[in-house]
Amino acid sequence: MQQKISFINELLKNKSPEEALRAIAANFQGKVIFSSSLGYEDQVITHLIFSNNLPITIFTLDTGRLYNETYSVLQSTLERYKKSIKVFYPQTTLIENLVSEKGPISFYESVENRKECCFIRKVEPLKRALQGYSIWITGIRAEQSEGRKDIPSVEWDEANNIIKFHPLLNWTLDEVKQYIAKHNIPYNPLHDKGFISIGCAPCTRAVRVGEDFRAGRWWWEQNNKKECGLHSN
Ligand code: ADX
Ligand code: SF4
Repeated sequence: MQQKISFINELLKNKSPEEALRAIAANFQGKVIFSSSLGYEDQVITHLIFSNNLPITIFTLDTGRLYNETYSVLQSTLERYKKSIKVFYPQTTLIENLVSEKGPISFYESVENRKECCFIRKVEPLKRALQGYSIWITGIRAEQSEGRKDIPSVEWDEANNIIKFHPLLNWTLDEVKQYIAKHNIPYNPLHDKGFISIGCAPCTRAVRVGEDFRAGRWWWEQNNKKECGLHSN
């Protein structure tokens, strides 16, 4: 695996995100998939893929608890590019049992309950989405959290047995915003209301100036390693 990662690193050396996506799509035909949360960074990557007709599948995980604004940006993206985005949902029986047994807001009661909900609504569907692919593209940026600060742009994901590539890893939030504005890319209007990282509606709030980018995610939890299980960082 290390050999494959070295090959990709060599392939992507000194390339812009656009050139890198093009090179990776050409070298791993039909095996490259991009997960979009429809947030800022992901809209930049979607634009690069769709406007260059790159053969990279795009999917999103609809947890069933997203903001209306997130559905609006999905719709405007489909209209703008006239291409399709695959949508994955939680398994019916799992979600029916969870809400029937624990109610609709069990995630506020304990970290364990919160991780259970994230597993059913995100992690399990993610595993299905990644089936059959070799390269998983994400919109992770180093600036987003302590855990993401030092990760490599190409890495092995043990949990999902796949190579991950983060094309915008070293972009700043300002660069992302400028790119969105320059190319008139549809984006989630919540970003203009203090939301930087946007996840499920009951688990995301706006952040105040100076607060950590991810302070608005699972804000009631005290531990500082707040993740849902999609990524280990
Ligand atoms: S999370 O781990 O806290 O949920 P975050 O919101 O920072 O992740 O997003 C990081 C990357 O994870 C995104 O750029 C995207 O690639 C992927 N991602 C997060 N949420 C989703 C989602 N609902 N659907 C698809 N991909 C997602
Ligand atoms: Fe459930 Fe909240 Fe996780 Fe969404 S972010 S899957 S609602 S616990």
